[in-house]
Amino acid sequence: ALRRADNIHWQHIDVDREARARIKGQHPACLWFTGLSGSGKSTVANLVEKRLHAMGYHTILLDGDNVRHGLNRDLGFTDEDRVENIRRVAEVAKLMTDAGLIVLVSFISPFRSERQMARALFDAGDFHEVFVDTPLAICERRDPKGLYAKARAGELKNFTGIDSPYELPEHAEVHLHTADTAPDVLAQQVIEELLKDEA
Ligand code: PPS
Repeated sequence: ALRRADNIHWQHIDVDREARARIKGQHPACLWFTGLSGSGKSTVANLVEKRLHAMGYHTILLDGDNVRHGLNRDLGFTDEDRVENIRRVAEVAKLMTDAGLIVLVSFISPFRSERQMARALFDAGDFHEVFVDTPLAICERRDPKGLYAKARAGELKNFTGIDSPYELPEHAEVHLHTADTAPDVLAQQVIEELLKDEA
């Protein structure tokens, strides 16, 4: 079968990603936050970005709720749409690291295969999976947007952790236990992972 990309050829670009990164004086990387809705992904990712920014790093934070208002506004929460959601954001994250940035991605990203697909886009060592591990019962108790209550009442279908799966990470570089640790300590754990190879 003819694929859509069959007659499209890779275009060489002279200014390469090493050159773009050099001018920024930083090593581009992707911090990929995954966890249940209400687990605290956005809170920790925000804190990490704030610290990195204060340290002079060039960063960007891609957040599920926000990207779904724009680029991915055509996608819902079926398995198929989540797969496409993650595929697009992974490609965007890759483009942004090519531009020299440290990219923070904060999506539920419930499927192992899509997190693996995202990881495979990056050089070894440039992709850091951060598992924001908060038990479902705690997320549900917090319920900051009232979505768990709606899901339990049957008003919201395909809700992660209720009637849509969350596949636990097996190879996360950082494992954050939010139930008993303060957000600023968690943020520090992520930053230590990111900067562990720097002199
Ligand atoms: S995914 O699974 O990675 O495609 O999800 P993501 O793009 O991160 O979007 C998650 C946010 O969308 C809201 N929301 C839902 N989440 C899970 N399941 C269903 N059915 C759903 N419907 C809406 C919810 O506010 C999520 O935000 P966070 O920040 O994760 O709590």
